[in-house]
Amino acid sequence: MSSRKIEETWRYHNSTKHPGMPPHYMDWENQPIPFKIYTSLDPIKIPNDLPFSDVPTLEALINQPSGAELKITPDFRTLGRLLFLSAGITKKKKYPGGEFHFRAAACTGALYHIDLYIVTSDIDGLDAGVYHFGPHDFSLRKLRNGDYRGVIADATTDEPSISKAPTIIICISTFWRNSWKYQSRAYRHTFWDNGTILANLLAASSAYHIPLKIFVGFTDKSVNELLGLDTFREVAVSIIPLGRTDNEITGNDIELENISYETLPLSKEEIDYPFIRRMHEASSLTTKDEVREWRETKIINPTPDAKGKLFPLKIDYENDFENDSITLEKTVLKRGSTRQFSRVPITFEQLSKIIYRSTQGIPADFLSPYGTTLNDIYLIVNDVDGIPKGSYFYRHRDQSLEPLKEGDFRHEAGHLGLGQDIPADASVDVFLLADLDSVLDKFGNRGYRAVELEAGVIGGKLYLAAYSVGLGASGLTFFDDEVTRFFSPHAIGKSVMFLVALGKSVKK
Ligand SMILES: Cc1cc2nc3c(=O)[nH]c(=O)nc-3n(C[C@H](O)[C@H](O)[C@H](O)COP(=O)(O)O)c2cc1C
Repeated sequence: MSSRKIEETWRYHNSTKHPGMPPHYMDWENQPIPFKIYTSLDPIKIPNDLPFSDVPTLEALINQPSGAELKITPDFRTLGRLLFLSAGITKKKKYPGGEFHFRAAACTGALYHIDLYIVTSDIDGLDAGVYHFGPHDFSLRKLRNGDYRGVIADATTDEPSISKAPTIIICISTFWRNSWKYQSRAYRHTFWDNGTILANLLAASSAYHIPLKIFVGFTDKSVNELLGLDTFREVAVSIIPLGRTDNEITGNDIELENISYETLPLSKEEIDYPFIRRMHEASSLTTKDEVREWRETKIINPTPDAKGKLFPLKIDYENDFENDSITLEKTVLKRGSTRQFSRVPITFEQLSKIIYRSTQGIPADFLSPYGTTLNDIYLIVNDVDGIPKGSYFYRHRDQSLEPLKEGDFRHEAGHLGLGQDIPADASVDVFLLADLDSVLDKFGNRGYRAVELEAGVIGGKLYLAAYSVGLGASGLTFFDDEVTRFFSPHAIGKSVMFLVALGKSVKK
């Protein structure tokens, strides 16, 4: 793989740690708008009138439809529902200067720098074409007329989940929309914020019985060209085929005409963060051989032997979702990021459900066999009825918590979460850490995109699981090396990928 010079990733990762980021003042006059708005293309209204699925969230979190025998083509209404539940506007809040629109999935800084494109064959209600999804008016805009799935099949070397999919979603990030606030660290956020959207999409596809798979390995250039992206500023991040038919479209040499449509300026000026572009370039795949090698790569993430007493998760595996999990649609409409946790305990049963349901596998091209994970879960338990306060490692293999250090670590939790009150007040803080060296050793620089994205997906699932059982959650940023030190010696050599706080929200 050409992206083997992994010192590029280490340079990027180490330079974007907290503390260490250069001081930064937000220029409110130059804040980018949170939408990509094509000004010369007509909107095609997306239907959003499908009845709710009524599937409990905890069930939707793990029942991924799969199997080669499934033949399902989502119609436009179903596609519309999936778009709404993953990236639609779910809440509007008025403030003195106007109205703010919140979306289905959490996003760093509410800056919403991830856009979704659709590449589809003819489906019921929608003609074949390449479309952009505009959440601001819940409409599609057509960029190309006709069936272009072959370009994606070609970019992913004709993998059947793509070549037999009637419809494909492509997620892209526009860096400036996030780097305005977070500077070069925004490249990490690209995958975190794409990950939370994908957590919702996975649950929605399960609720509406649409098989899907996440692809991170593809030849970047052809996908970016298909969407007419200005790759200095915006790039494709993940590809998600939806549904499955008998008809296989093969990668072919479609001549792509250049397209470039006018979009509304994001802000007065855009500031370039070259580090982001360098990291993206270093993790790009240029040949189909690289893509094949990527997909054949397997990684084993061993669970070390346990020391001492374990706390097995407390789960009624058959019935845990029937009694107390609200439906996926209600969860997504209710979800937000908890702004203040009340310092009260949650139960070990609640924590068990949330962890179990959020970690049952992600269908992705870099996680094979199904159930493989690149990220490990570490926890600070501030207040959970049924287990002592302290730090823990989640033993994925035997679904139990292994105590690392007993004690009251609220103060440390607050500090590790960048000195914020949220992780100190939460009942539990869930940290995702990965052995980045082994990931890069196996996958090359592209592995960085995968491991950050997987963390974002698990983080998004933790949000959904928490809200579905009446609790709150918030993603958080962190002091990188201090978190590793806190969980060491167990976590020695690992890098922090994501942090989610869980607990009871203070009712406003
Ligand atoms: C990866 C990630 C990191 C976040 N970090 C913080 C944080 O450090 N502090 C905070 O108050 N909120 C944090 N948030 C919450 C976002 O600010 C929130 O998702 C955004 O404002 C949108 O609001 P909503 O989640 O209520 O829809 C984070 C969210 C994500 C997904």
